[in-house]
Amino acid sequence: MIKKFSSRRDFFGAALSLAAAPAALADAPRRDAPPLKSLTNAPMGCSTNLVALKDPAYAALLLRNFSQVTPEYEMKMNPITHTDGRLNFTLADNFMGFARQNRLRVHATTLVWYKHQPPYFMGLDGKGQVFADAYRNYLLTVVGRYRGQVVGWDVVNEPVWTDGTRLRDSLWSSNLGAEDYMVLAFEYAKQADPNAVLFINEFDLERLPRKRATFLNLVERLLKRGAKIDGIGTQSHVNINLPQGASTLTMRDLAALGLKIHVSELDVSLGRADRDNRSMDDKLKLQSAKAWEVVDAFMNLPASQRYALTMWGLMDKNTWLRQLPGREHDEPLAFYDDGQPKPMFWAMADRLKTR
Ligand code: G3I
Repeated sequence: MIKKFSSRRDFFGAALSLAAAPAALADAPRRDAPPLKSLTNAPMGCSTNLVALKDPAYAALLLRNFSQVTPEYEMKMNPITHTDGRLNFTLADNFMGFARQNRLRVHATTLVWYKHQPPYFMGLDGKGQVFADAYRNYLLTVVGRYRGQVVGWDVVNEPVWTDGTRLRDSLWSSNLGAEDYMVLAFEYAKQADPNAVLFINEFDLERLPRKRATFLNLVERLLKRGAKIDGIGTQSHVNINLPQGASTLTMRDLAALGLKIHVSELDVSLGRADRDNRSMDDKLKLQSAKAWEVVDAFMNLPASQRYALTMWGLMDKNTWLRQLPGREHDEPLAFYDDGQPKPMFWAMADRLKTR
């Protein structure tokens, strides 16, 4: 049984001093956990999906803490694009309906991603103008459908190769050009919804300085070519072994372009349990310190650059990470499986509420 903190003060003192006595850990009362969204005027977001939302307790906890949602799956290319090219918006419309009913902002992900190359587009591979027309039609139709309903889009997702040495090859780059597919995507998205905030989104910017540099150089080149990029998404899938200060340094580098910043997919992995014999208490304290640093870096941005801070999942049991080998029991999020706030919740809350 993992002990929990009796109050924010107990946790906070412990989170920042790894030597804190285990006595600092006690059952955290549900009653005084403030809604995260109430602690700051920066939009607090969370990814979610229609399957998870069927659980009323889950939905209540999400609505209590967050004012913005990102569809984990429903507005991506694969679920929308039928094999014959017809576009199916059932899941996307249902997701938007939930958001509308609950007065939630929606940040949508993602329009163009190397991981979603639907069979319809694969069938157009190498077909020149036919491919280009289908690409344009997809972007104009999808973004146009939610014009005025979606606050922002991840237009291009994960364009840089995993190790940061080059750009990714994809169906989009091979048919439209290594960077042209990105310029076109932003052009079509801006045309379809001039008021949507348009993002380029990437992961591992904190962990790999080389990838961060390659990414920022790409963004600068795209901007020089007139790409309508309004913001940068740093996914922030971080872990407890990330060197202290890495998130702070990354945020400084990203903010230098003056664009809006979205911490778009925050989770703090405890890593592979089978390869780490540190106590759970110590790992949770490290996790809290990492989460605190991410929130601190975000909150230290000028208000004009603070787009949103989005968790990639609500409770630990919702995390995508548990699909990875050796991570079946990872606990990367702010709430335990029973909905109780974790030490990282208190760390985030304490940083959010300090102006
Ligand atoms: O629920 C449907 C089911 O009805 C359908 O029959 C089935 C067909 O494959 O798909 C089911 O949906 C799954 C969906 O998650 C449920 O939310 C998809 O299979 C599965 O591929 C999808 O995985 C998502 C993944 O992106 C791919 O879209 C993960 O939940 C989501 O956490 C993950 O998120 C990505 C970000 O978009 C980009 N950054 C990395 C992050 C983690 O991989």
